[in-house]
Amino acid sequence: MEKVTCEGNSICYSDQGEGEVILLLHGFCGSSAYWEKVIPYLGAGYRVIAPDLRGHGASDAPAGPYSIDQMADDVIFLLDALEVKKCYLFGHSMGGYIALSLAERYSSRLQGFGLIHSTGYPDSEEAREKRLKSVSTIQNDGITDFVDGLVPGLFAPGAEQQLLERAREIGYSTPPRGAAGAALAMRERPDRREIIPAVGLPVLLVAGAEDGIVPAERTFTSESANVTKAVISGAGHMSMYEAPQRLSEIIKDFILSANV
Ligand code: MLT
Repeated sequence: MEKVTCEGNSICYSDQGEGEVILLLHGFCGSSAYWEKVIPYLGAGYRVIAPDLRGHGASDAPAGPYSIDQMADDVIFLLDALEVKKCYLFGHSMGGYIALSLAERYSSRLQGFGLIHSTGYPDSEEAREKRLKSVSTIQNDGITDFVDGLVPGLFAPGAEQQLLERAREIGYSTPPRGAAGAALAMRERPDRREIIPAVGLPVLLVAGAEDGIVPAERTFTSESANVTKAVISGAGHMSMYEAPQRLSEIIKDFILSANV
């Protein structure tokens, strides 16, 4: 892992390959490691950059609460530091919320972007309440208990146990302060559904047919001509682990069609 320092906080990232830049943003209680099975399938011809977002993985976890825009600003800091002018951006779940913030505020830095098991909807009132419960579980019971409660719901029923184990292992490395800060950031995120048809960029929307966290109808919020939709059968919320080859093909096909 390499790192840059943004306002005193380190942002760690992996940076592999050469060519058009693909930037991959992980989800809540994940890390850049979430993409470990996807990156090899993306193959040659791409430079793939995957940060550990603020409060996650090996990056610093400054005091929260965070905001999605702040997490997006960290990503711009990283792109600037690496002198990357434009990239294809794909965000998984919370990473998708950050992708939408970038699309709204920095669309000139993007060639296209994708939401992987994510949504432009804000949290419902019920979800906002659950975020507060998440914060109290993280603070009172610890990150291990919180992640143990979180992980089974991320996968489709019948997913291989070793995949759940890997997601737990990554989740346990989330600093509690980072997990709490990010939960509060997601709680306050705005409705960004309108960005998808209005952004003037190719947009990829990917849903897992068995996603119990972000069901397909919450991902597919636009029928606009700039939108490509894909459903991954057999996958829950974690196609990066459940169907990495299929997800990589979808991403590569999207980039090829966006480049036409
Ligand atoms: C994630 O995987 O990033 C989370 O499920 C997103 C969320 O809780 O909204």
